[in-house]
Amino acid sequence: MKVEFVQRDFTAIKADALVLVLTKEDIGVDKKGAKASTLLSSFPADRFQLERAIAGSRFTGEKGEPVTVYSLARYGIAFLVGAGDESQLTNERLRRAAAAGIRAAQSAKATSVVVAALDSVLEETSHYEVVHSLLEGAILGAYKYDKYFTLDRKNSKVGSITVALSGVDAPIGRQAAKDAQLTCEAVYLTRDLCNAPANEVYPEVLASVAAKMAKKFHVHARILDEKQIRKLKMGGLLAVNSGSARPPRLITLEYKGNPRSRSWYAIVGKGITFDSGGISLKPSAGMAEMKMDMSGAAAVIGTIQALSSLKIPVNVVGIAPSTENLPGGRAYKPGDVVTTMSGITIEVDNTAAEGRLILSAALHYAKRYKPKAIIDLATLTGACVVALGHHATGMFGTSEDIMAQLKEAGEKTFERVWQLPIFEEYEKQIKSEIADVKNVGGRWAGAITAALFLKKFVGDNPWVHLDIAGTAMLEEPTEYSAQGSSGVGVRLLTQFFKQVASPK
Ligand code: BES
Ligand code: MN
Ligand code: ZN
Repeated sequence: MKVEFVQRDFTAIKADALVLVLTKEDIGVDKKGAKASTLLSSFPADRFQLERAIAGSRFTGEKGEPVTVYSLARYGIAFLVGAGDESQLTNERLRRAAAAGIRAAQSAKATSVVVAALDSVLEETSHYEVVHSLLEGAILGAYKYDKYFTLDRKNSKVGSITVALSGVDAPIGRQAAKDAQLTCEAVYLTRDLCNAPANEVYPEVLASVAAKMAKKFHVHARILDEKQIRKLKMGGLLAVNSGSARPPRLITLEYKGNPRSRSWYAIVGKGITFDSGGISLKPSAGMAEMKMDMSGAAAVIGTIQALSSLKIPVNVVGIAPSTENLPGGRAYKPGDVVTTMSGITIEVDNTAAEGRLILSAALHYAKRYKPKAIIDLATLTGACVVALGHHATGMFGTSEDIMAQLKEAGEKTFERVWQLPIFEEYEKQIKSEIADVKNVGGRWAGAITAALFLKKFVGDNPWVHLDIAGTAMLEEPTEYSAQGSSGVGVRLLTQFFKQVASPK
């Protein structure tokens, strides 16, 4: 997709469609609903059309459905989108408005779109953020996974987006546009990997996509195959893999953005390319969703791409263990005891709790980087979805400082996180009668007992666990994510590392 910023107002450019984001103040609606029309008088050529559309639809600039305007001077079709009160304008409102507009433009089969707003939107927030947010909304909103449509359902896609704001200095606008594009391309990679069916993306493919990304973005990739995984005695990963006909992989991606520093951060992602539950088979209803059980791994791969393309000066290693979880003649079974790489033994009570087993290997492996922090992302528990639904990622950890930073990054990107406790009192739920720990903790507080299980494998390293089961896979579309994968984690962690790189 071609993305650019121009320091002009929208009447000075041409495209198939215009998306015009307007605040209530732009429309100049007074308390009685009468229009003062500051907007209209500034664009004489289009004044008549705009006036008619606004009056006819009672458009007020309030958040809501886009209003369609035909035949402006330079656009066949335009969409007016409300962003609400100027005084309450946020980055998220701009993202949502741009996304609603771009979707309308896409439905109208536009391939080139100008996204514009009046200079009034520049009063409250930084110019960089206005451009960045409008583009994030527009690019992410335009995302579609249509790779497998071969007949008549492959709709046209937006191929070029131009953001036009006359009040933003060109260098700032261009930088913001470039940064937004690079970030969104990484989110696209993550979404594509997750939305792809499990017969296309299995561990070897996930690893080769990671390696290809690494090559393109100058990141050092090391892919461990089954033999190497055996040699390292990664028992948790091998146990889960035992029911699958396909070999496992351990993906590591070293991004060295700050060569002068020797310290690393580790991000670890669950890479189950399909989770049937194994011998403890899941019900068939909804099982297809479990092709996205590698959303943590995909977010790690996407984040490393984003960090490298944006040249964020930090050192981050991405680690993603990957396998399928299937039943079979050699599959691991309830009652099995598994010895992990760290030496800790696990009683398997339920083979559907496989994520924590493969993460036991990856979290232990992360220790060799002596990381300043380990952050893991995993579609780990249904219990987390029960607790928080689809609007917040569950956050657990030992470092209040890192968690505070993640919370801030979550608010900024609107990939929000919410902390849940890991009080030691919960720990007895995962006590085993025959091994060091049991892989399930009973009915209550399932997201918490899963986190406490992971904690056993991080040692003294500052650690945060993000349970993205509810936020990574969407049953319904949201403002700027289609149904399916949201790509959650990429923007959150990228923002987190920006904060790490330039602390306040
Ligand atoms: N991948 C699932 C968790 C999941 C469920 C993610 C629903 C997204 C939506 C995980 O591997 C799993 O099966 N967890 C079990 C754990 C239980 C057996 C302790 C669960 O949540 O039911
Ligand atoms: Mn499972
Ligand atoms: Zn799973």
